[in-house]
Amino acid sequence: MSKAAHDKNSGLVFWESPANIALVKYWGKLQGQIPMNPSLSFTLRESVVRIAMRYERVARGAGGLRTFSLNGQPNEKFKARIGQYIESMKAHYAFLADTFLDIESQSTFPHSAGIASSAAAFSALALALGSIENDLDGRHGKGSDFLQKASFAARLGSGSACRSVYGGFTVWGKFDKLPGSSNDYAVKIPDHEIHPVFRNLHNAVLIVDDTEKKVSSTAGHALMNGHDFRQSRIVQASKNMSDMLLALKTGNEELFVEIVENEALTLHGLMMSSRPGYVLIKPGTILMIEKIRQYRRESNVNLCFTLDAGPNIHLIYSTKDAAKVRPFINQELLALCKNRQWVDDGVGSGPIEKQKS
Ligand code: PMV
Repeated sequence: MSKAAHDKNSGLVFWESPANIALVKYWGKLQGQIPMNPSLSFTLRESVVRIAMRYERVARGAGGLRTFSLNGQPNEKFKARIGQYIESMKAHYAFLADTFLDIESQSTFPHSAGIASSAAAFSALALALGSIENDLDGRHGKGSDFLQKASFAARLGSGSACRSVYGGFTVWGKFDKLPGSSNDYAVKIPDHEIHPVFRNLHNAVLIVDDTEKKVSSTAGHALMNGHDFRQSRIVQASKNMSDMLLALKTGNEELFVEIVENEALTLHGLMMSSRPGYVLIKPGTILMIEKIRQYRRESNVNLCFTLDAGPNIHLIYSTKDAAKVRPFINQELLALCKNRQWVDDGVGSGPIEKQKS
């Protein structure tokens, strides 16, 4: 350890990290935030959380989160959740025992827009903790060990956050056909394993409703424990993972579309058939699904939709079809969006570290 690093008592790190959208869904978990089944997503480009994390060494045992703000305002609700997360991270980042953190965060998308803001937030937090650990140890690397630890730590904040640590396509959860995959952290599918037709997919996030959802993902995951379809879901997810990896590799757009929509409707089918069951989609969601399927039949463009745990549609299409799909979005779908709100997003290249102190 260099003397300079040893003497460092304070500093500031910045990270920008994106949300991701799952194509094969994580739904249901085991003790310790272990997924019930493997999942696969791509990382977004535009929907990001930016954080500035300031650290200051203090007396041993006094460390923890001191201040937290979101979009320029102190936010007590998030401060409590992030504070608990930082407490839990003391087991993995020794420096937290004697370090105060002041965190400023900003998100480029509305919190309730149906984009998993927690994935962006927890991946940014985990990456920032890694950068501080590096600073204090006098290390500089942001290699695979750094990213794997960040993915591990992000998972403990919000499961799907572990997939946001990498750009492109990622898998979280042990899957026999993917060597190196793990329940503890996500792994990146190498870009050369992704057919060019999928590498720059577009994702139009169409906001059907932006009110806070009435059943949290945490409660939804818990309802999978005694779910009547639990075992069948595990079998189905495994089959869909195999087929999705094959589709991505070979450029099979028909297979891709079939699996993406099957996963989206299964996710909401599982919610509806939980005990108690609940419905997060809205009439506008169904109308859009019908329009998208009709457009696909009539145009032969292989676009498709997916859904997160909410009513908003993620329309996925290839760059080669963008000139045709844009007018369809403008003329047919925006009228069904709340206040014509949508986010023009797509596959991104992953988190970035901003300038440092
Ligand atoms: O990471 P969580 O606990 O917010 O769960 C996210 C679950 C889904 O977004 C519905 C699916 C997924 O794999 O991202």
